[in-house]
Amino acid sequence: MPKLHRTTPHIGPDCEIVNVSFGGWVEVGKGARLLNVEMQDYSYCDRYADIANTTVGKFANIAAMTRIGPTDHPYQQPAQHHFLYRSSYYWDDVRDDAAFFAQRAGRRATLGADCWIGHGAIVKPEITVGIGAVVAAGAVVTKNVPPFIIVAGCPARPIKMRFDERIAERLLALAWWDWPHETLRARLSDFRTLPIEAFLERYETSAG
Ligand SMILES: CC(C)(COP(=O)(O)OP(=O)(O)OC[C@H]1O[C@@H](n2cnc3c(N)ncnc32)[C@H](O)[C@@H]1OP(=O)(O)O)[C@@H](O)C(=O)NCCC(=O)NCCS
Repeated sequence: MPKLHRTTPHIGPDCEIVNVSFGGWVEVGKGARLLNVEMQDYSYCDRYADIANTTVGKFANIAAMTRIGPTDHPYQQPAQHHFLYRSSYYWDDVRDDAAFFAQRAGRRATLGADCWIGHGAIVKPEITVGIGAVVAAGAVVTKNVPPFIIVAGCPARPIKMRFDERIAERLLALAWWDWPHETLRARLSDFRTLPIEAFLERYETSAG
């Protein structure tokens, strides 16, 4: 298992990493492909995750074989094949369609802090998965997911809430994901053992 680092990401073998910024304590699993991605502090993805045009929030948990931000072909045009935009692959006298690639790159997905994307799930471009939300294994997410909601299926639908609304609001106000590294360490055993109400009561009056 890797020992993670405050400044340098841990990147597994055979990854493709293009235009990616990394926060601290970040881990990228074997064979992952990341294109135009911001990986914020403590976020990680497991093996063969494929992430494009996405802001990955702090502490986001991305399982293996997931796809975040799969890009669309121009299905409204007479042909949807990539010769339309990867044209230089096929002819010497034409360039790729820069405007098409720029439009694609602009359709960013956002994964909220401490969300969990289950094995093999797909999250469409421009979708926001809320803070603390769960995307079940194999789900296809086509609509925004509110904070602390669990969604499953294809298309993904809410199946339950992690916590009731009041607890969710209190967690959003507490924003433990903004606590310093040393504070997380000091409070680790409470994260592990305290029931949610007791955890909130203990920390919502004290600053991080
Ligand atoms: C979403 C998840 C966390 C829910 O777990 P849970 O709270 O134990 O949920 P339950 O098993 O009680 O299921 C609740 C309902 O959701 C359905 N459901 C659960 N997971 C589902 C999934 N992946 N796809 C579709 N439906 C799912 C169940 O069939 C059940 O439906 P029902 O009420 O009609 O019977 C879990 O099923 C899951 O997908 N975990 C991801 C695991 C993973 O990918 N790990 C990779 C390593 S990080």
